[in-house]
Amino acid sequence: MQQRELGSSGIQASVVAFGAWAIGGGPWWGPTDDAESIRAIHAALDAGINLIDTAPVYGFGRSEDVIGRALLGRRDRAVLATKCGLWWDDETGVLHFEQLGYKVRRTLDPRTIRAEVEASLKRLRTDRIDVLQTHWQAPEAFKTPIADTMACLLDLKQQGKIRAIGASNITPAEMDEYRTCGALDVCQPRYSLLDRRIEADVLPYCQKNNVATLVYSPLEQGLLTGKIGLDKHFTPEEFRNRIAWFKPANRQRVLAVLAGWKELTDKYRCTVGQLVIAWTVAQPGVTCALCGARKAADAVENAGAGDLKLETADIARIRRDAEALGAPQ
Ligand SMILES: NC(=O)c1ccc[n+]([C@@H]2O[C@H](COP(=O)([O-])OP(=O)(O)OC[C@H]3O[C@@H](n4cnc5c(N)ncnc54)[C@H](OP(=O)(O)O)[C@@H]3O)[C@@H](O)[C@H]2O)c1
Repeated sequence: MQQRELGSSGIQASVVAFGAWAIGGGPWWGPTDDAESIRAIHAALDAGINLIDTAPVYGFGRSEDVIGRALLGRRDRAVLATKCGLWWDDETGVLHFEQLGYKVRRTLDPRTIRAEVEASLKRLRTDRIDVLQTHWQAPEAFKTPIADTMACLLDLKQQGKIRAIGASNITPAEMDEYRTCGALDVCQPRYSLLDRRIEADVLPYCQKNNVATLVYSPLEQGLLTGKIGLDKHFTPEEFRNRIAWFKPANRQRVLAVLAGWKELTDKYRCTVGQLVIAWTVAQPGVTCALCGARKAADAVENAGAGDLKLETADIARIRRDAEALGAPQ
């Protein structure tokens, strides 16, 4: 498994990470079995993955709690990345979404960040968070100045409660503001073969300024594994029902492209999903791919991409095929 440093933090992370959103279950992802999730985390660690990315909001604490249980006796094998900034304990902030009776608000107020960190440490059963990322940036209507947020994060770092600071869903201008206050080692944007928008600004910025990128949804929520056929149906509540690429006509076009890569999967003796992950982490500016998994076999398969080196011509061909797909209809 290739490893890369997260910015200038000194933390070495596996290029393939375990994304722990889905193990939070709930309406977004449908039924999830905690024992199976724990087996998936153990399998990921055994297959060379050390970076685990979660957030308090994933299952309203469930994802962090499951990780905490999985890492009992194994904490030192993991680089734990979690988040702050989505808050449901009181009415501080601006409403972001509502689910299961929780009103989740966006706020990066130092008071709520400190409370979130204490709760995360407890659920994760640890005394330190390796990377704390602001999940969504503060909205104008409830704007905490970035300098105030950073002062709080830097203080938490000073106290040893967090080791590195990161920010998700963020623009280069906002990253500039963070970086005038102190070290920003991690950025977490959305990126996949089918969603390459950050190539225009975020990736070049991070590459130039030594900010590690942990890119999320690299498998387009499973679609790019090629295993979600036209016969797969999601419950009305599951969010994959609402994603344009999952609509039958679009899904069919994606599946046809993936099927066309048989000669590549034969050449590299890999699966389609592994090919896609290897392509993702080979892109300039991409540090790690956060691959969601809730089954041991999936985590092991994803980890297998961490040793796969694609030739330049094949990387270019995969891009051409994806570009030819255009936008979902
Ligand atoms: N910062 C943010 O705002 C943000 C937003 C989204 C995600 N994230 C992070 O990024 C991580 C990954 O993103 P994501 O979960 O949205 O999407 P993803 O990694 O593109 O897809 C994850 C899903 O794909 C399926 N899958 C994964 N590996 C597979 C395999 N080898 N074979 C078959 N199916 C496989 C699984 O679906 P099933 O479990 O249904 O089988 C899995 O839950 C999250 O877990 C989270 O840590 C962050």
